[in-house]
Amino acid sequence: GMFDLVIVNARVVSASDIVTCCIGVKNGKIRTLVDSFGDEEIQSARVIDAQGAYVMPGGIDAHVHLCQDLKTGPHGLGGACSDNFETGSKSAAAGGTTTVITFATQTRAEEDKSLLDVIKAYSARAEATGSYVDYGFHIIIVRNDKDVLQKEMPILRKEWGISSCKLFLTYETQRLTDSQLLDVMYEAKQNSMTTMIHAENGDMIQWLTDKLESKGMVAPYYHALSRPPLVEGEATNRAIALAQLIQNPILFVHVGSALGAKNVRRAQTIGLPVYAETCPRYFHLTWEDLKRFHSPTCFENSKMICSPPPPPDTSDQEELFVGLENGTFTIYSSDHCPFRYDHPHGKPSGVLEDPKSMEGEQYCEGDELRSLLARKEGAFRLIPNGIPGVETRLPLLYTGALAAGRITPQKFVELTSTNPAKLYGLYPQKGTIMPGSDADLVIWYPDDSFKPFNLANSMLHHNVDYTPYEGMKFVNWPRYTILRGKVIWMEGEVQGKLRDGQYVKRGPSQLVRGVSKTTQDPRRVASWLYE
Ligand code: URP
Ligand code: ZN
Ligand code: ZN
Ligand code: ZN
Repeated sequence: GMFDLVIVNARVVSASDIVTCCIGVKNGKIRTLVDSFGDEEIQSARVIDAQGAYVMPGGIDAHVHLCQDLKTGPHGLGGACSDNFETGSKSAAAGGTTTVITFATQTRAEEDKSLLDVIKAYSARAEATGSYVDYGFHIIIVRNDKDVLQKEMPILRKEWGISSCKLFLTYETQRLTDSQLLDVMYEAKQNSMTTMIHAENGDMIQWLTDKLESKGMVAPYYHALSRPPLVEGEATNRAIALAQLIQNPILFVHVGSALGAKNVRRAQTIGLPVYAETCPRYFHLTWEDLKRFHSPTCFENSKMICSPPPPPDTSDQEELFVGLENGTFTIYSSDHCPFRYDHPHGKPSGVLEDPKSMEGEQYCEGDELRSLLARKEGAFRLIPNGIPGVETRLPLLYTGALAAGRITPQKFVELTSTNPAKLYGLYPQKGTIMPGSDADLVIWYPDDSFKPFNLANSMLHHNVDYTPYEGMKFVNWPRYTILRGKVIWMEGEVQGKLRDGQYVKRGPSQLVRGVSKTTQDPRRVASWLYE
């Protein structure tokens, strides 16, 4: 037939428009958008009636942690991610996401020096299980070896299609000094790699943590006090100055404070290529959630620990909402960072394990075992940072912002799909519904036919034993998730297969345009570097 799949009565949403039409899909690609199909075109195809509901380009979650083990864990705090590509990608599909970009991380260990070896190792982890959705990698760089960067960055770009790297201003095992940041940013710029920045001032955090500990303030809640908004405020300003100095475009990951958002806005206003990501937790959690079970012996709140922490109260959330609609935030990602509460590699439950029962464990002995046991005592300094949310990302934005009238459907699509695709070099293969694009789609329920429900973790597909959003009311949920023309999630059931997802090679960012000439004066910034 002419089409493999047709979708009728669709309210197709792009980053700019909404139009009621039908979609024809052939060989995994969008073939056509039309008013209506004739009988002939419909007969041989699978037909989905969207019943007037929103049909959007499939979610692109550009910030997902999978398969990071004890050694390459997100911050050297002893945690290991509990989701691999199997469980993580299934959870993504069930939440309307068709592409995830995950992290492959270099460590300071000499044998992890080669970025190519790191990527190969992570690629093998993905291939070991397969994936329900398409996937790519960002590379986390924690050292400034010029020879490695100069030799390997071009290979990462050309052979692997990896066009983004993440750099840290905090975490002892990952942070770079200012001159190291300049080294890596400079090489990234030469290779058209987008530099992602984790902007927290590591010295402020360490100093405050020491002071808190000296007062016995070690319970999970005090994690927030060790990272007041100024921590992100300082680090965003410093990274903006470093990037401006050498004319490098940057994206701030997981911006969680009104102060951070203001700094980004100011940089954008003077024409700097500064972009920002924010995450669901900053709109749905506050310091109050970290405090919920606050007591010296209860570690339940370790479930809520992430960095940067949620804002102190709802007034910051209001300012962040403005940033969603006015363009300060370029993308909205989950920062899905899965740790279990019931596992020694996860969130400390405060229950000291019997060391003997842990000794037989696969990779824990000696110092590692001792540090795990210390971690189990629950001082916030030792609690792995991060919370899950790849599956709840789109539904939370739908309920909290779209249905609440805070953002338009077009803005929803821009933040969750179109801009991540443009920023990370996937557009227009992904991120839009246009002839020739991959037929990656999320179809919602018609709002008036959906019965709101309260979320329970048991409904989710991640390998995590909690959700920070337990009990929260949702007014819609993805009804169909379609990956390159194949239905992988339908009305509460996973329909896809582990080999459906493919590795995606990416090109350079398509967002950096029209940077103000006045910000490139060689007497003020080092634009002469590139002459
Ligand atoms: O708390 C967080 N954000 N954990 C994930 C690791 C990271 O820094 O993105
Ligand atoms: Zn980070
Ligand atoms: Zn993260
Ligand atoms: Zn272990």
